[in-house]
Amino acid sequence: MTGKSILEGRHVVLGITGGIAAYKSVSLLRLLVKAGAQVQVIMTPAAKEFITPVTLSALSGRPVISEFFTANTGEWHSHVDLGLWADAMVIAPATASTIAKMASGVADNMLVTSYLSARAQVFVAPAMDLDMMAHPSTVRNIDTLRSYGNIIIEPEVGELASHLIGKGRMEEPEAIFNVLERYFSSAGDMAGKKVLITAGPTYEKIDPVRFIGNYSSGKMGYAIAAEAARRGAEVTLVSGPVSLSVTHPSIKVVRVESAMQMLAACEEAFPQSDIAVMTAAVADYAPAHPAQVKIKREKQDVPVLELVKNPDIAATLGAEKREGQIVVGFALETDNEQENALDKLSRKNLDYIVLNSLRDAGACFGTDTNKVSIFSAAGVRHDFGMKPKNEVARDIFDTILGK
Ligand code: C5P
Repeated sequence: MTGKSILEGRHVVLGITGGIAAYKSVSLLRLLVKAGAQVQVIMTPAAKEFITPVTLSALSGRPVISEFFTANTGEWHSHVDLGLWADAMVIAPATASTIAKMASGVADNMLVTSYLSARAQVFVAPAMDLDMMAHPSTVRNIDTLRSYGNIIIEPEVGELASHLIGKGRMEEPEAIFNVLERYFSSAGDMAGKKVLITAGPTYEKIDPVRFIGNYSSGKMGYAIAAEAARRGAEVTLVSGPVSLSVTHPSIKVVRVESAMQMLAACEEAFPQSDIAVMTAAVADYAPAHPAQVKIKREKQDVPVLELVKNPDIAATLGAEKREGQIVVGFALETDNEQENALDKLSRKNLDYIVLNSLRDAGACFGTDTNKVSIFSAAGVRHDFGMKPKNEVARDIFDTILGK
């Protein structure tokens, strides 16, 4: 390791659960300690079946905590104090069982109890067999943790302890360590900034029970909101109808349905905003005369919908922006990607446009990953690889901040 690590002096709670990958946590602990972090290890009872507390307490220089009490002295371990002490909490490996307990708040061991008390950023590195990883309950629980603002360090695809090959190998200790270093190197660098974000689809009413909409899940916009808040910004998230939720206290969610409502919410927030990021998939057209009562199939011939054009929210803000305000748009393209993106950049008077191509598998509606290129109005192009949406969010703000 060269130079001083950003982790020096940081308080890290390292949670270890009962999986084969627990042996890798020893290396992670070693990296953290070498970087100068103060590490408190908490093991679940099952973790002790895989590695011994002695190794971990020797390396961390602190007794490992596993139970609520030390049996012979009756000393109580305060999960509340630990939760306040921590600057970061890393749970590696995180088994399906611990992830489920974290998602639903089953505080039956010291690790989950401390997790529920933690105010610091939590990182979760799942490790399990491929079928457990793909089970809908695990997928849902991991999504729930994401909605709490936890950062999921995705497992790799590779050979598993079962000798099956698939997704479920815990990320390597060096990579987990790098995630932590990157996190701390940008924490708070957007303090004092106000960020407006649009997300999700819009629904345009046909009648009280039907609408025109699209497949946008809102995941990209919500990840951008979480990233801005993590970096210290105050966020207004104007969200179309999605099934996502946020809990970060610095994110104010304004829920809207139609493009007109989204525009009104943006117009209200934009004058106070330093940065606006427009990720919403706004419907291009809306029914001109939505019916006040349900259109009945039996009572009429096939109806003809007259449509009107919706306002372009990004272009409206682009036209209104003052000196110093930054407006970022997204372009989802299937062909002539660069040309179309650059056309939008200038036509909407944007400062940056984030291009994702529907030709890239893994870069479309509903996925947890994305592959983008960012073009600036100054003519600079940055290309990025396929990565989780929270990392794409980080790349976007790093680009804007010139990092
Ligand atoms: O023109 P196109 O819909 O491809 O532009 C995409 C960009 O413009 C996205 O940033 C999107 O959020 C924004 N947009 C908008 N209002 C619209 C249409 C698009 O804000 N009515």
